[in-house]
Amino acid sequence: MSNKSILNKIKIEFEEGLDKSEKNLEKLEKLKIAFLGRKSQLGQLLKTIKDLSPEEKKEFGILANKTKKEMENNINLSINRLKQQVDLEKEWIDVTAPGEKTEIGHLNLLSKTQREIERIFTSMSFEIADGPEIENEHYNFDALNIPKNHPARDLWDTFWFKDKSEKNEKLLLRTHTSNAQVRYMEKNKPPFQIIVPGKAYRYEATDANHEHSFCQFEALVVGETVNVANFKSIAQEFFTAFFQEEIKIRLRPSYFPFTEPGFEFDISCRVCQGKGCSTCSHTGWLEMGGCGMVNQRVFQAAGYEKNKYQGFAWGFGIERLAMMKYKVDDIRHFRSGDLRFVKQF
Ligand code: FA5
Repeated sequence: MSNKSILNKIKIEFEEGLDKSEKNLEKLEKLKIAFLGRKSQLGQLLKTIKDLSPEEKKEFGILANKTKKEMENNINLSINRLKQQVDLEKEWIDVTAPGEKTEIGHLNLLSKTQREIERIFTSMSFEIADGPEIENEHYNFDALNIPKNHPARDLWDTFWFKDKSEKNEKLLLRTHTSNAQVRYMEKNKPPFQIIVPGKAYRYEATDANHEHSFCQFEALVVGETVNVANFKSIAQEFFTAFFQEEIKIRLRPSYFPFTEPGFEFDISCRVCQGKGCSTCSHTGWLEMGGCGMVNQRVFQAAGYEKNKYQGFAWGFGIERLAMMKYKVDDIRHFRSGDLRFVKQF
């Protein structure tokens, strides 16, 4: 058989093999080695070219190499086409398959409670004001009639900053939202009624009822004829709206340097309806915060004329309110990040 016939036969067999292996990558790879590898029949045939006469060498050499190129092109084309197909299959998406549910976050119970408080107070025409969490000792203490070295400062265990402000003031994390009182009064003239919800910080050990970072909301109502009766009726209305049931309130005499007189504020225990239980230490009452008529010295610190205005203020713990309403037994749950807690609300 002449070299040309052998070459022709190889080509025909190769094309038959290609037809049969068209859809199978593995078979195509094997076919490529079998027909185009060094040990293939074609490979052997190419090796004999050097022994041919110069004319035959020229004619057959060109033909053999051209055939080899064609065969290589054809098989590479089939292999590449199949590989692309495999890639597409991997990327295939079943648009009819049911989707995976993405969990959507929601507001933390504390934020919900704060918004609820804000909603109730704005419905009573209160304005929502703000104060800084990083504060100087003037607004947190001095302006509230708690001068330096006054023993009342010990009522608030304070986180102090090492560095002072640009104006050389000592800085601290506010221990209560009362820091906003004088700040607001310096910029606004009575009458006004505001609440100031926000974070407060105290350098104290945590337990079921105490956190070092917690939330309060301050209320401040100032005018020429504001009195304790106004305060009681607003507080009564708020607590009834917040708990959505009739709540009894009670004031007990207490001391805050920025009030005169000052009170502790109690509500009737919702767990036992005032009969006495372990939550309320068998008293039937639960303490919610401090309050009182604004001390005239605070008005003076804000630049108001002495004895011209009267006002009341209170500071309640938002966590304590949420604990009461949603029956949360430990304040530390709020910031634990524990999804078992978070998902309940
Ligand atoms: C004050 O902070 C006063 N500024 C409140 C006030 C405002 C009195 C205006 C008069 C006029 P007191 O330290 O008692 O007061 O805190 C008020 C409330 O904040 C507490 O009753 C409690 O509900 C909450 N609270 C205080 N400390 C913590 C704490 N460590 N963790 C959680 N809640 C706290």
